[in-house]
Amino acid sequence: MKQDTKLIHGGFDRDAVTGAINASISVSSTFDQRDVTQEQEYDYARSSNPTRKALEETIAFLEGGSKGYAFSSGMAAVASVLGIFAAGDHIVTAEDIYGGSYRILNTFYKRWGLDHTAVNASDAEAIRRAIKPATKALFLETPSNPLLKITDLREAVAIAKERGLLTIVDNTFMTPLLQRPIELGADIVIHSATKFLGGHSDVVFGLAVTASEKIGKLVYAVQNGFGAVPSPFDCFLVLRGIKTLKARLSIEEQNARRLALFLQSHKEIDRVFYPELGDEKELHLSQAEGYGAVFSFETKRLDRALGFLKKTRLCARAVSLGGVETIASYPVRMSHAAMPSAQREKLGISERLIRISAGLENIDDLLEDFERALR
Ligand SMILES: Cc1ncc(COP(=O)(O)O)c(C=O)c1O
Repeated sequence: MKQDTKLIHGGFDRDAVTGAINASISVSSTFDQRDVTQEQEYDYARSSNPTRKALEETIAFLEGGSKGYAFSSGMAAVASVLGIFAAGDHIVTAEDIYGGSYRILNTFYKRWGLDHTAVNASDAEAIRRAIKPATKALFLETPSNPLLKITDLREAVAIAKERGLLTIVDNTFMTPLLQRPIELGADIVIHSATKFLGGHSDVVFGLAVTASEKIGKLVYAVQNGFGAVPSPFDCFLVLRGIKTLKARLSIEEQNARRLALFLQSHKEIDRVFYPELGDEKELHLSQAEGYGAVFSFETKRLDRALGFLKKTRLCARAVSLGGVETIASYPVRMSHAAMPSAQREKLGISERLIRISAGLENIDDLLEDFERALR
């Protein structure tokens, strides 16, 4: 099956008993133990739930992994995956990972003894240099947020394997339609399914997929133990969102490309960050099947960035991405507000930077809105 067919028929396809083509929303928190001397598949809904299982099997299949796990938010997925490590362990992260992941690593996990070093993950030597005897994993995001920098996943995986480390990739921006890190050798993939997988800005949700059953058991122990699990209704919403991912993402990607090209030649714009327009285009295409629907741009003057945010009529000025509506996000006040300003400056996340997640609106309306708002 091709990946877009898998979106429809992968994982859960038909209910074996009723033939229903959608997974039922199974609301029971507990299950009758018909024979208490035997273990049965379902006993308590924190541990497992039929709707959640349908989604977990679907995402594992889509990512080419062996086990999938669903969480009540993307951050719950990140936190739970980090929960497989112990005090004294160390991980190497990309320096421009999602601000929320940065925050929990620098607060809770630091306090609990999980140390980390943040590096420019586009530089393999920097990754190598940061590895210590206690290092257990690489934690990456490509393209990165919000500057869309590319990490060479094959090279990172090779370094990790050579040093006996796990490779963890946050694949939120690309989705398994465009990029499948496990097929390139990664061990764990994470999603904020709040974004493209849910797709309609109406659910907060997280997913993790492990390449092996062995690592899956470690993640499951945290999922069940910490219990940051999603509601069956939210599982249904994400299952539904996954089915239309191809239709949405292909139009959103086309719109993103048109907007990025328009901005690149606009006199008020300094720089546009989009994998297709950067030096790392070929590298990105060697590991992904598209450029995605997210890009960032930097205006020459601060008042133009603020003016754009004030005057746009079509963009939601909001945190988040991957919805059907175009979202303009202001990283310094939103996704990266948790990052100290010195660190933001070092990374190039300026006050003139706006991140766009292109939606499904007609491109002519979007172009007109961007043109007018910048003017
Ligand atoms: C790349 C990435 N990872 C993780 C998260 C956290 O996900 P959530 O907001 O669903 O908790 C986000 C949220 O914006 C994100 O963009």
